[in-house]
Amino acid sequence: MKNFRYLVLGALVATALPFTGLVVGSQAQLGSLGRAPAEEGGPLMPPLEPGQAVQGREVYLSLGCVSCHTQQVRPAGQGRDIAAGLGGRPSVARDYVLQPVVLLGDRRIGPDLANYGSRAKSESDVLAALRKPVHAPGLRFDADGKPDARVTALAAYLRSLRQDYSSPEAPLK
Ligand code: HEC
Repeated sequence: MKNFRYLVLGALVATALPFTGLVVGSQAQLGSLGRAPAEEGGPLMPPLEPGQAVQGREVYLSLGCVSCHTQQVRPAGQGRDIAAGLGGRPSVARDYVLQPVVLLGDRRIGPDLANYGSRAKSESDVLAALRKPVHAPGLRFDADGKPDARVTALAAYLRSLRQDYSSPEAPLK
């Protein structure tokens, strides 16, 4: 009986310690992270999102884009993202502080989109990418090839995905 108590106590400690480390520790480290200028007097980064992009994120979520696209540029030692032109610097936690849902993703079938907005030069570039057959399900264009309101919002969201500014912890070279 005495040993049983120790067993229960041990199980409790074994659960509580990792919980404290993972949840409370991360909250203490990152919970108060906010926007910051890369250098004194500079603009606060990341920039605010346009309203249409906020709606577009909902479309992105509802169509399951996250099942094929990540939104995180890996550091040079951990992959070819920077060499491949997916971003000018690695993604850092501060890049995501304004996002109510962080869509890092864990599977890359299509290219990483964290910095897609600085690769896409115009709305028609974005629409051309969305018209590819791989994206056909769920996306609506009319007979003239014009996008419906959801696709327009989605395009605005995709254009707002940018990590092309310096962050205090990740200056752009
Ligand atoms: C089944 C997997 C899959 C899904 C789901 C998917 N994509 Fe893609 N996506 C791809 C692939 C593969 C490519 C590369 C296509 C090519 O280059 O021909 C791509 C390319 C792109 C590009 C161009 C990227 C670049 O760097 O040029 C954008 C933008 C994009 N996808 C957005 C989306 C959005 C928005 C959704 C949700 C509506 C979505 N994708 C869903 C597979 C997918």
